[in-house]
Amino acid sequence: MDKKFRKTIIAGNWKMNMVASAIPDWMDSLKDELCPGEGEEVVLCVPFPLIPAMIGAAEGSAVRTGAQDVSAHDIGAFTGEVNASMLHNLGVGYCIIGHSERRAYHAESDELVNTKQKQLLSQGITPILCVGESLEQRDAGETLDFVAGQVRSALAGITAEQMKGVVIAYEPIWAIGTGRTATAEQAQEVCAHIRSVLGDMYGADISRGVSVLYGGSMNAKNAAELLSQPDIDGGLIGGASLKWADFAAIVKAGAEDG
Ligand code: PGA
Repeated sequence: MDKKFRKTIIAGNWKMNMVASAIPDWMDSLKDELCPGEGEEVVLCVPFPLIPAMIGAAEGSAVRTGAQDVSAHDIGAFTGEVNASMLHNLGVGYCIIGHSERRAYHAESDELVNTKQKQLLSQGITPILCVGESLEQRDAGETLDFVAGQVRSALAGITAEQMKGVVIAYEPIWAIGTGRTATAEQAQEVCAHIRSVLGDMYGADISRGVSVLYGGSMNAKNAAELLSQPDIDGGLIGGASLKWADFAAIVKAGAEDG
């Protein structure tokens, strides 16, 4: 099965939750329960000020630290922004880009997401590129074309070699934080389509090596079914990643599938 060519990645997205002082206890609890499978990667994407505490608490465990956004600029007078080299310097391995909350609340365009992608790759940080349709687009039958367009724009100018270091997360907007999950069939259909777009762009060898995650109300109960789909290689988990026991259960589901 093609899944052996790619990593299973279970990534938590804490969004704007938690505080640094809570991390050591939280991580101690998680570490006691954490049993990732071989080749399974566990990532926690935390707010910028929490990154050093997470890196410290994750030491000696399988957990890698990620960020949730990055500046499109490399250095200079950009008040409030954080660049890719600052993240690299701290030891950040992954960074979410193009999350639908950033696209919606900060008007992030596909072009901006593409620039951020290049910034991250220039520092050896793995982008977790988020794509996904609205409910109106799904109801209008536009999902596959819309998501394909997001993927193509975000990857413009990215070489095949660079693509080996990119992760894609399919997150239907209507499933994020709503408790309404895409069915395993719906999620599989779009993740398989993303892989076929990558095949067109980069060829079969590259596309079968790219991890494509599902995100949108994934939890301890529904993870196993979603993760068992042939083109779903992991999850990007918001709400359920705030509870260490739930997050550990999703990592376990990923280990059983891998
Ligand atoms: P959710 O969030 O799991 O709470 O739906 C997922 C995400 O936004 O990445």
